Amino acid sequence: MAIISKSIDEAKNWLEAGNIVSIPTETVYGLAGNALNEEAVTKIFTTKERPSFDPLIVHIGRMEDLETYAKDIPKEAYILAEKFWPGALSILLPKTESIPYLVTSGLDTVAIRMPNHPLTLELLQHLDFPLAAPSANPFGYISPTSAKHVEDQMGDKIPFILDGGPCSVGVESTIVGWEDGQLTIYRLGGVSVEEIEEVLGQSVMQKSHSSSNPQAPGMLKSHYAPSKPFYLGNLDDLLEEFEDEVVGVIAFRDELLDIDEEDQIVLSPSGDLEEAARNLFSALRKMDDLDVDVILAEPVPNIGLGKAINDRLKRAAAGH
Ligand code: TXA
Ligand code: MG
Repeated sequence: MAIISKSIDEAKNWLEAGNIVSIPTETVYGLAGNALNEEAVTKIFTTKERPSFDPLIVHIGRMEDLETYAKDIPKEAYILAEKFWPGALSILLPKTESIPYLVTSGLDTVAIRMPNHPLTLELLQHLDFPLAAPSANPFGYISPTSAKHVEDQMGDKIPFILDGGPCSVGVESTIVGWEDGQLTIYRLGGVSVEEIEEVLGQSVMQKSHSSSNPQAPGMLKSHYAPSKPFYLGNLDDLLEEFEDEVVGVIAFRDELLDIDEEDQIVLSPSGDLEEAARNLFSALRKMDDLDVDVILAEPVPNIGLGKAINDRLKRAAAGH
């Protein structure tokens, strides 16, 4: 089983020896390896059982690394990096030769992000290579937001988990890039559309999910899915529809009086979207582990982080 520890030195040793380890970030835990070492990158794909056509995000710990791994960087990218890094924003840019095509699944662009977690930032600053890291869950399942989540699913496949506590954001990074010079959001995430638009003083395009674009499976309709049947909608309507089943409920702020307390999770009793995002993935996991037949959930207000939460809920529901 994996060693679980807060030792940055130990994580560094494993990585320098070409192994993959799980690292904490503010969004979700990652499954990290030396992005410049093809053997390590191959281990990431096989451990996660991830199709090789799904590219990995490259994590850096120093602003100057941006220009080592990306080129032809638009001015807007610098503005976004200055404002949101370290943070939950991945930026798609033309890659330099140092990034292997294995990392980008043959694409000429690479997704780069500087994560905002003290342990992982320090680790990255002590390494002389960047870390390729997808979320540390089996492909298609719910992303991990604690070391325990990683241990439960990956503990027998990797040697080491760097324990940085529960993730403070709880949903994956927002992914942006440029299409014909136009800034485009490819995945909703921890940095909201509103925040990006405010910084740039303009509205940005948003690509809705696609089931036909294999180059970005994070955009696939069904993803982040629990293994139980999962339905999203108005809870009163769903409860009526499933009145003959044992149901588990994920509510946004209000507890349901006619459901057992153990069978429901309120994401944020105060109606705070940041708190709801932090609790989202562990709520999905808990429901999956409960003795219920069906999971029912309601959308949250569709503003700020709420858009990323609703996106994950929709994809969790799409598999069923
Ligand atoms: O918050 C996060 O982004 C977490 C933490 C660990 O940093 N990482 C994460 O990685 O969510 P992953 O692999 O689970 O999701 C990354 C998404 C994938 O859907 C992939 O298709 C997309 O980013 N992606 C990566 N590189 C890309 C590229 N060059 N072009 C298009 N999409 C890309
Ligand atoms: Mg993922």
